[in-house]
Amino acid sequence: MNAQQQPGVFVIQPQRVLEGAGVRLQRSLGTPQFNYLDPFLLFDDFSSPNTDDYVCGFPWHPHRGIETVTYILSGQVRHLDSLGNGGTLGAGDVQWMSAGSGIMHEEMPQSTSEPLVGFQLWVNLPAREKMSAPRYQNIPAQAVPTVTLGSGVSTRVVAGTHGGVRGPVTDIAVSPTYLDVALEAGVEAALSLTSGDSTFAYVFQGDIEFRIPEGGATRAAAPRLAVVQAAHEVRLVAGLSGARLLWVAGSPLHEPIARYGPFVMNTREEIQQALEDLQQGTFIRAQPRSDPSQWYGARGEGDGAG
Ligand code: FE2
Repeated sequence: MNAQQQPGVFVIQPQRVLEGAGVRLQRSLGTPQFNYLDPFLLFDDFSSPNTDDYVCGFPWHPHRGIETVTYILSGQVRHLDSLGNGGTLGAGDVQWMSAGSGIMHEEMPQSTSEPLVGFQLWVNLPAREKMSAPRYQNIPAQAVPTVTLGSGVSTRVVAGTHGGVRGPVTDIAVSPTYLDVALEAGVEAALSLTSGDSTFAYVFQGDIEFRIPEGGATRAAAPRLAVVQAAHEVRLVAGLSGARLLWVAGSPLHEPIARYGPFVMNTREEIQQALEDLQQGTFIRAQPRSDPSQWYGARGEGDGAG
């Protein structure tokens, strides 16, 4: 996108992508059309009412140099990683994983009686933290506070601060904000932006009109990603069926990136090193669970959600 200096709201239509072992998902960020919104590298919506769209999941695969944020609103995702973490994410749960120098994991949406509703965001790590020790935060639904600032508006605060309430995800390099905002029909709400941050909204239910003083009004009906640029505040006005959106913001890193599938580093040489580490079995520095040659992703597969 070349309109970084123009105030306004720019709407991105998600692209259908086949990912993992055959998951059909919708990608709004990390596509040839919209590759990077520094520091955000990828945004996938793997929601579906059809089990066949997701049940093959994202088997064992590596990551290096990024953080992945998985947010589940319905259904279940079973996970396991090379740090020894394992469990099931359910409605309202969040997993914030810092791959650092290297992690292997699997993420397997389960067939349940509920439709699957879930999202994954990739956040870049600054160069100084690309090879840090991998970390993992699992946040159960009840630990995510809900803020009600006005009638008909309810906001879950995953990360950052909203209405004086701080979300449970902390100690993240780019100081992200991650909100889940639900608006009833016709309701209006204001969100403020931090100058210099990259900010987007992902509308996944209903439709929203975004109004900014500098840039007029832009409407987005789910599913759409809306990039909000150079504004101090945006007013959200929900359509007749209400709306729900994720609101994500973070400080740009302004560093070069080199990306290859599940690895995002600063140089091609660092990508090459990651591939060599995989081939030589030195990618994981503790607790490898299986033969690295069998790990999904060892041949460059497995970018995207999971
Ligand atoms: Fe993954």
